[in-house]
Amino acid sequence: MSENRDIELYLKKNLSEKRFMHSRRTAETAEKLCMLYGYSPEKGRTAGLLHDIAREISNEEIFSLVAEDGFGISKIEKDYPVLLHGRAGAVISIRELGINDEEILEAVRWHTTGRRRMNGITSILYVADYIEPGRMHIDNEFRKKIREMNLDQLVMEVVRSSITYCRSKGYSVAEQTFMLYHDLEKKVS
Ligand SMILES: [Fe+2]
Ligand SMILES: [Fe+2]
Repeated sequence: MSENRDIELYLKKNLSEKRFMHSRRTAETAEKLCMLYGYSPEKGRTAGLLHDIAREISNEEIFSLVAEDGFGISKIEKDYPVLLHGRAGAVISIRELGINDEEILEAVRWHTTGRRRMNGITSILYVADYIEPGRMHIDNEFRKKIREMNLDQLVMEVVRSSITYCRSKGYSVAEQTFMLYHDLEKKVS
């Protein structure tokens, strides 16, 4: 399995500078959240670095990478292939970088839409991607509130906020995201 240094070299070659920096900030945020919630900071950092590894490849490449990962392609994913960049990223992480840690791969795979019953690292990456310091829509109040929330509450805040954002922009919301929302609604009161 590649070291973070090798991952960064790969990202530098395959991502724009802007997205590379976003990946690094997401990795740092994920590492901190892992420490806060009791998960492996090393896994959080690696998942954060890897998460957008397939974000700048063509739609054709995305479809060809996810064709054999066994999860199928829904109508909305067919219409908006960007929703599949997490799954494509997991395939690249395995093939190009030899990543074999299932928790890390799962986090990369589902970071875009979220999903029901996410493991700890997946939940943390989903949140970290949304709140990393480069995200201007998150204010300091929200960042402070994090310390008072458990991880389910935090994921719920992010799901709610991203659904609201997508609706305001007229974007479609993936089925997995709604399922996650309804699941958390029952758990978080
Ligand atoms: Fe992403
Ligand atoms: Fe991202």
